[in-house]
Amino acid sequence: MRKQRHAPVHGLATRAIHGVHLHPYQGPVAPPLVQTSTYRFANSHDAVRSAQGDPDVFVYTRYHNPTVRQAQEHLAEVMGAEKTLLLSSGMAAITSAILAAVETGEEIISTPALYGGTYRFFRDILPRHGITVRYVPPDRLETLSKLVSSSTRLVYVETPTNPTLGLVDLKLLVHEVRKAQRRFGRRIPIMVDNTFATSRNQRPLALGADIVVESATKYLGGHSDLIAGVVAGSARTIAETHFQMKYYGGCADPFVAFLLLRSLKTFALRVDRQNASALALAEFLEHHPRVRRVYYPGLPSHPHHAIARQQMGGNGVSGYGGMVTAELKGGLRAAVKTCDALHVAVNAMSLGGAETLVSIPVYSSHVNMSSRELRQHGVTPGMIRISVGLEEIEDLKRDFDAALVS
Ligand SMILES: Cc1ncc(COP(=O)(O)O)c(C=O)c1O
Repeated sequence: MRKQRHAPVHGLATRAIHGVHLHPYQGPVAPPLVQTSTYRFANSHDAVRSAQGDPDVFVYTRYHNPTVRQAQEHLAEVMGAEKTLLLSSGMAAITSAILAAVETGEEIISTPALYGGTYRFFRDILPRHGITVRYVPPDRLETLSKLVSSSTRLVYVETPTNPTLGLVDLKLLVHEVRKAQRRFGRRIPIMVDNTFATSRNQRPLALGADIVVESATKYLGGHSDLIAGVVAGSARTIAETHFQMKYYGGCADPFVAFLLLRSLKTFALRVDRQNASALALAEFLEHHPRVRRVYYPGLPSHPHHAIARQQMGGNGVSGYGGMVTAELKGGLRAAVKTCDALHVAVNAMSLGGAETLVSIPVYSSHVNMSSRELRQHGVTPGMIRISVGLEEIEDLKRDFDAALVS
């Protein structure tokens, strides 16, 4: 095997295709899929080496796997992290990373608009572990220090948020957390769910955050055919999260890692196209007579557009993402009618695939929430959430126009 060439000078699209190893060996161009649960030892000395922590001895796929490891190395390049860990889903990534950071009796500070699964984990599961979550509104980050106590172990945010595409100002958040942590003489890690933006559009680690979590099911996978999650951060964070993963069992399957490596080759290309189409569709919908309001960070009408220009599309990174939410005149009835009348866009949950997907948040990501919780998340019954795919933009505009007036 030739010497590894780490290539920080290469752009994200190149790194997503080649990973760390530019021409590592003269074997297959596509990565080998090591679909095995266990590994043959050369002799029992290998078992001892493994027990002593030698990372080159593979023992059991819940602990390590070569294809999963290769995907992790690619993801570290893409996400600008020292290390990453691939897990069985976005929720496995989020829950393992949080449980690695916070113990019984400790606290998390978060912002209130979160993916429903994360919010329910905070509301229903963490209290059973004796872990409390306190919320600070994203437009009042300067009050965060009042919530920070000697028990605070983590700040967790999602930006843009699901489904209202609200932003948390990451630069300001980092400033406020670092200021507040000085009182306690201890670093408080900041964890960011970057699923909606992806590292093509927003780089939380470069902005001073410590840990990034992403549902790789979405843009990283990009084809609506796999479920996976990733945690990115320092080697220490990843080792601690790996420890949790090993016992909670949320390891990634090798075949999923193989699919993900395939997907990463077109990651930048796909996201760039989705950025452009989402902006065009958002502009089209904003002027549509049946639409009350459009939420898209790339629109000047978006209340957080100035923050978006700073930390997303305006700052040398690629764009404002592929997610658009439209609030329709006519409420839930209009939302249902429109989703059922679309022919090109697919009425399905999830996001980030090649196909444009639409869903109604009160029936999907925010189902089973009280009116107060829906208000807190800014969700209304007339909203449709659109994950803009890779189809021709004119086909999408015609499809939405016809469905809205049906
Ligand atoms: C922002 C966000 N984070 C995390 C998740 C959870 O990811 P997964 O479904 O891969 O567990 C989702 C799923 O929709 C999401 O939208």
